[in-house]
Amino acid sequence: MRPCYSLTPLFTFSLILACAGPGEEVPVGVPGAPLPGLTEAELARFEQGRVWFDYGWTPEEGLGPLYIQDRCSSCHDLPVLGGVGVESLTLMTSFDPVEGCDPLVEEGGPVRQEHATPLAQAAGIFREEVPRAATERVTELSPLLFGLGLMEAIPQELIESRADPDDVDGDGISGRVQRTHDGRLGRLTRKAEVASILELVEGAFATELGLTSLNHPLEQTLNGLPLPPETDPVPDPELDTEIISAVADFVRFLAPPAPETPINAATRDSISEGALLFHNVGCATCHVPALKTGPNEISALSEKTVYLYSDLLLHDLGPDHRTVCAGDATPTEFRTARLMGLRIKAPYRGVPKAFSGPILAHGGEAERAREAFESLNVEGRSLIIRFLMSL
Ligand code: HEC
Ligand code: HEC
Repeated sequence: MRPCYSLTPLFTFSLILACAGPGEEVPVGVPGAPLPGLTEAELARFEQGRVWFDYGWTPEEGLGPLYIQDRCSSCHDLPVLGGVGVESLTLMTSFDPVEGCDPLVEEGGPVRQEHATPLAQAAGIFREEVPRAATERVTELSPLLFGLGLMEAIPQELIESRADPDDVDGDGISGRVQRTHDGRLGRLTRKAEVASILELVEGAFATELGLTSLNHPLEQTLNGLPLPPETDPVPDPELDTEIISAVADFVRFLAPPAPETPINAATRDSISEGALLFHNVGCATCHVPALKTGPNEISALSEKTVYLYSDLLLHDLGPDHRTVCAGDATPTEFRTARLMGLRIKAPYRGVPKAFSGPILAHGGEAERAREAFESLNVEGRSLIIRFLMSL
């Protein structure tokens, strides 16, 4: 159960002050731990998936010919498996306000493969280039994967109910739902263009590791050109569906990291005051503290409260904050980042200064909140950051 930071009965924002209400179940664990309450069979899946998540593939087993890393954990291992990484991904797209987003699939986008196997190198192939048609490119670092199963289990209607695409309530914050091409709600990735963990994992195997599977039967191309057959002797599909679903279960069953337990009353008070200010300046309008999962056949995911600090909607952060486009999301629209786990996430971990850049980069729909943050005195800003560092 989460610690309750509430100071006085006046501070009854149970959602903001991160204390569980009566009867509320808030599963957490140490970083990398499985969700509490998994059955033995589910725990076995978690362990099995963890092995494959950390497994280094070889070209003889299907890695490549073009790939980025040889295992998932290369980019998701800090401070433990399922965390962030120092290796990055380069994404590239072309965006036109009328035509929309072009992921440049025919020219090798949206993900650039930066490595090639020895057989591909022997054929003179080393890496993909950024296509000339790309209007945006970005180097992306991985997010924490903790608590994603709970995030996936939040009912679609609950997320939709918070959207306000035309800003009817006039608070300057619209927030809209991202949809996949077949109309499902997208919630994974920085642009929320992927609907489920299973699809994301299968896609990551294909684009990051170059492993073909049932739904990704074709190898990555060299900027759109098929690779010579001699570079790829392994028959497709290279990856067993069982492995994909075990890795998806590993990701799905990772527990949200527990927030800081204040060591004394003074620390607890600072965190509570920071939480209140976070709410008062308007951060919590998008970084919605808690959402509840719906009924789920997996009991550890069923009707649980998860402190994501995200509404999972797309927000336009203004022209100065641009990356690639994806699905319906324009280069300046982003899914509200989860703030859960910031206390263990590089570069924030123990570094108050690391927060200034990302907070001050909030424009567009978040402009008012950013201005309210900037107009606080040093102490107020530090309290908000102290609160973020406890999550
Ligand atoms: C080269 C580095 C790299 C490798 C290898 C990699 N990832 Fe990632 N992963 C990323 C980055 C960067 C993102 C964020 C992408 C985005 O949001 O656009 C990400 C996002 C994710 C997400 C979605 C998180 C969210 O917040 O929606 C999941 C799940 C995930 N990766 C799982 C995996 C799995 C499973 C593998 C192995 C099959 C893998 N990743 C391999 C870098 C990597
Ligand atoms: C209009 C919605 C909105 C409001 C209001 C808002 N944010 Fe954000 N915030 C976002 C989005 C969207 C992102 C993700 C940006 C990206 O991916 O580049 C984000 C990212 C962040 C991050 C970076 C997290 C990470 O993992 O790197 C921090 C920290 C943050 N916000 C803090 C705040 C604080 C503090 C406030 C109040 C002063 C605030 N936000 C107000 C939408 C909002």
